[in-house]
Amino acid sequence: MSDNEGNAIVVTGAGSGIGKATVNRLANDGANVVAVDVTESSLEWTKEFDSVTPLAGDVTDSNTNEKMVALAVQNYGGLNAAVLNAGVVAQGDIVRGSMSDYDRVMDVNVRGVVLGLKSAVAVMASTGGSIVVTGSVSGLRGDSGLWAYNASKGAVVNLARAAALDLGHLNIRVNAVCPGPIHTALTKDTRGTEMGDAMEARLPLGRFGEPEEVAAVIAFLTSTQSSFVTGAAIPVDGGVTAGTGQWATYSGRKRGYL
Ligand SMILES: NC(=O)c1ccc[n+]([C@@H]2O[C@H](COP(=O)([O-])OP(=O)(O)OC[C@H]3O[C@@H](n4cnc5c(N)ncnc54)[C@H](O)[C@@H]3O)[C@@H](O)[C@H]2O)c1
Repeated sequence: MSDNEGNAIVVTGAGSGIGKATVNRLANDGANVVAVDVTESSLEWTKEFDSVTPLAGDVTDSNTNEKMVALAVQNYGGLNAAVLNAGVVAQGDIVRGSMSDYDRVMDVNVRGVVLGLKSAVAVMASTGGSIVVTGSVSGLRGDSGLWAYNASKGAVVNLARAAALDLGHLNIRVNAVCPGPIHTALTKDTRGTEMGDAMEARLPLGRFGEPEEVAAVIAFLTSTQSSFVTGAAIPVDGGVTAGTGQWATYSGRKRGYL
């Protein structure tokens, strides 16, 4: 249990993966949630909770962000926390990666978060609150073939720090959760593949994380249990960013990666 009971919280990217696990976690902890994703169908599952309001919309559109916050105020009397989690990825090295992919990734992963943050702050300015953005270990270091995603997540992590500095005096905390590889739709193509196995071998814990394991950290950050935590980028990554990458992990060695 987190102490989110009775809190009004918006979560973007709620139709799948980490966002869906977060809504489930928060609703089960007694929070009232506005769950946002692109399509209505991806939010059908929220009907199992009376305390969740689904909203279909694109986070790159300011109307969606304003509406999600307005729904929290209208249905639940305010806004205690915002989880700005919607994100997309694009593959391809920097030579062949297209500018249209870059624009899309930056639009959703950075612009969408900035719009969400501004909308949330408009309400939280008088009450305080907690904003959690989903960064990534890919915002802390680089990956081959993921340059646009790396640029976007690096931006989001530093945005969280800068916003924490601007908003601390209003008692608004801003933190970035930085997942490593997590079993969601985003990583489904690696499941059961040689690449997936090689990725697991680089993780000290020797496995991908589950969305619920990220949701647990998000629930801590949205709650007052984390009342003195702001401007932090918190890895939830099975230990991958603890290493230099020079040596195989013991999990990897057990699999024959030396
Ligand atoms: N899965 C991982 O390994 C991993 C690792 C690090 C960071 N992340 C980050 O976690 C977040 C959630 O990803 P996930 O793994 O749960 O992926 P996912 O694909 O399962 O879920 C992402 C959700 O975001 C929604 N979304 C995408 N664009 C949107 C938009 N413009 N407006 C509204 N919703 C939109 C999608 O429809 C989807 O339901 C992303 O920001 C991602 O970059 C994921």
